[in-house]
Amino acid sequence: MAYQQPSLPYADTALEPHISAKTIGFHYGKHHAAYVNNYNNLVAGTPFDSQSIEDVIAATVNDPAKIGIFNNGAQAWNHTFYWNCLSPNGGGKPSGELAAKIDEDFGSFDKFAEELKAAAATQFGSGWAWLVSDNGTLKVVKTGNAQTPLTAGQTPLLCVDVWEHAYYLDYQNRRPDYVATTIEHLLNWEFAEANYQAAK
Ligand code: FE2
Repeated sequence: MAYQQPSLPYADTALEPHISAKTIGFHYGKHHAAYVNNYNNLVAGTPFDSQSIEDVIAATVNDPAKIGIFNNGAQAWNHTFYWNCLSPNGGGKPSGELAAKIDEDFGSFDKFAEELKAAAATQFGSGWAWLVSDNGTLKVVKTGNAQTPLTAGQTPLLCVDVWEHAYYLDYQNRRPDYVATTIEHLLNWEFAEANYQAAK
């Protein structure tokens, strides 16, 4: 039961000028594809092969003997999630229940955005910045390398990939500019709202 890399939910040019087709080509076509291929090769012929990728991630986290399966499986999952967090019609502010919940838990949308920017900027080295629901409370968290909030019992609502491969071709060392542009123009609040409703 191999894990399939889903098709991108938009054309590789759709996020321009904020994220180039060249970045998407390498990021989706090379990096994400490699995580998926490595994961499938590592679980082939093992009991993990018949389990969902979420179950395999949960079963292998913090197990040094399974680090390859965890890293590639979590990165396969994180990237599939990330592509859905971006939209050519994204950015701006959320509406509806999620908007009210952000105001309640962060004070305002702007305070949430500042927290997300800070988490992304202060993630030392490779990793991710996330908006999660943690037992009904919205939080911004950051994770290193392949780590994912799934294994902390949190429900991801949105994420920003802050591995250099996500932005270096377009922004070089300017990670904060990539994150600010992503928040302003690309975050898919319809996807976040659906995740929020499912987590309630
Ligand atoms: Fe990535």
